[in-house]
Amino acid sequence: MKKTILLTILLAALASCNDSDTVQDIETPTTPTNPTTSITYSKNVKSIIDANCISCHSSGRSAAFRPLTTFAEVKAAVENSGLLNRIQLQNGQQGLMPQGGRMSQANIDLIVKWNTDGLKEN
Ligand code: HEC
Repeated sequence: MKKTILLTILLAALASCNDSDTVQDIETPTTPTNPTTSITYSKNVKSIIDANCISCHSSGRSAAFRPLTTFAEVKAAVENSGLLNRIQLQNGQQGLMPQGGRMSQANIDLIVKWNTDGLKEN
């Protein structure tokens, strides 16, 4: 009987520790695309280019003439080779990148915002 009472008190104490502060901390979102933070190559852009472009745009591949494997290369492609136009073409339009089909609108928007934010590396 005594044990049961002790256990009940212990459980009640534990439950009261688990107040709403703790829950709120866990639920606070920290998304990398928070509109108030600027987009950078290292943080946001590189992973998209790696996943969608370098299978062709790297040495030994079909588009090796325009590599997209470093910050400097991707920045130059935005500034001089129409990268932003290419990714915003519609499916079926001549010149669309990636050739296989348009990326998600979220990825496209992020790269466009990278340019608006000043093409920062970090
Ligand atoms: C399946 C292969 C392939 C993929 C994947 C691909 N590209 Fe291309 N890309 C090419 C080829 C081939 C060319 C050259 C022909 C042309 O200009 O359309 C090219 C041309 C380009 C050009 C013009 C380069 C210049 O100097 O004229 C840009 C910019 C470009 N791609 C960006 C991208 C981006 C950004 C991605 C990813 C979102 C991507 N490409 C994905 C094959 C690919």
